[in-house]
Amino acid sequence: MKLFIPILFIVFFISTFSFLFAKDLPGKDLFYNSKGKYGSCNHCHINGGSGGRWNFETQSVDQEEGKKIPVLKGVGKRKDEEQIKRSIQLMKKMFDFKLTDDQISKLAEYVGTL
Ligand code: HEC
Repeated sequence: MKLFIPILFIVFFISTFSFLFAKDLPGKDLFYNSKGKYGSCNHCHINGGSGGRWNFETQSVDQEEGKKIPVLKGVGKRKDEEQIKRSIQLMKKMFDFKLTDDQISKLAEYVGTL
């Protein structure tokens, strides 16, 4: 009986905080929380919309100069999952994201629903 309470506590603790140890966050969490050189996907693709242009010189989001950041809303209708995955591979290379292939699949799945 003496052991019962601590065991119950440990079980409760593990089940409550296990998400902290989970490596594979679902796509949405990855979109907002994955870390690249310039922050998460959301840094440029704000809520799946466009933040403007990516200025490679100043390394910041710019309204006039730079490469247009595409709106991701509806991209699932324009492109299939393989094409979206390839774009995310490109993001990984360009902006130094640490993403596994599995995480890229999850991201592609999420981005396709925007
Ligand atoms: C530093 C800014 C920046 C960050 C961070 C970023 N992107 Fe992008 N993204 C861009 C730019 C710029 C393009 C256009 C690239 C091109 O046309 O060559 C793009 C293109 C894309 C495309 C292709 C869209 C289309 O219409 O074909 C997808 C999908 C995409 N990004 C998803 C993501 C995901 C997922 C992440 C996070 C892992 C991410 N991006 C992080 C700037 C960014």
